[in-house]
Amino acid sequence: MKYLIVFAHPNPASFSSSLIKALCDHLVNAGNEVELRDLYGIGFNPVLSADDFSSLADNKVPEDIATEQEYVKRAEHIIFVFPVWWGGMPAIMKGYIDRVLSEGFAYEYVDEGSNGNGLLSHLTCSMICATGLSSEDFQTAQDAMKVIAEGVICGFTGIKPGKQLFYGSVPTVSDEVRKSYIQEVIKEFSE
Ligand SMILES: Cc1cc2nc3c(=O)[nH]c(=O)nc-3n(C[C@H](O)[C@H](O)[C@H](O)COP(=O)(O)O)c2cc1C
Repeated sequence: MKYLIVFAHPNPASFSSSLIKALCDHLVNAGNEVELRDLYGIGFNPVLSADDFSSLADNKVPEDIATEQEYVKRAEHIIFVFPVWWGGMPAIMKGYIDRVLSEGFAYEYVDEGSNGNGLLSHLTCSMICATGLSSEDFQTAQDAMKVIAEGVICGFTGIKPGKQLFYGSVPTVSDEVRKSYIQEVIKEFSE
């Protein structure tokens, strides 16, 4: 399988950073092709700008967006990994979605008055999220995030939704529990 992992966390000492390292090692050792885009690490610019709109209107894809789209084109499965901030993805990840999944690449408008057509139906994707709240207390926000991920982002682009994994109380559980979360993720991607 050709995996593209899109990762957002600025802190190398975070749970999410430990998770990403273990997941990448596991997928590579299992014989998969893995490309990692660490959005903070590469200094990804998440702001969809007026210049972006005018370039895209002239069918010119800004260079940094084109680079990320090449990674998407090569992938079969995208895994988004991030901590939940204010009930959703960190701004840098939202900006990746805004800019990289652009009109003409991820979707197109064809018929008058109809919804867009998704252009990425060859892809599947998963989402792995760490939360501060317990799983129980996070349930309502989790349902809302699933609607955005499956209904909106996948629905609009044609990407088929895969696993959506949430791990609760990350800052307050013991190291053993955090390690068990990482083992659970690895098991999920061993099937
Ligand atoms: C800016 C910010 C906003 C946060 N908002 C939420 C939230 O809405 N819901 C929640 O459960 N946890 C929230 N948290 C807690 C983080 O999700 C938690 O610290 C993180 O998942 C721990 O994993 P990490 O070590 O990978 O950062 C927030 C943390 C920060 C820094």
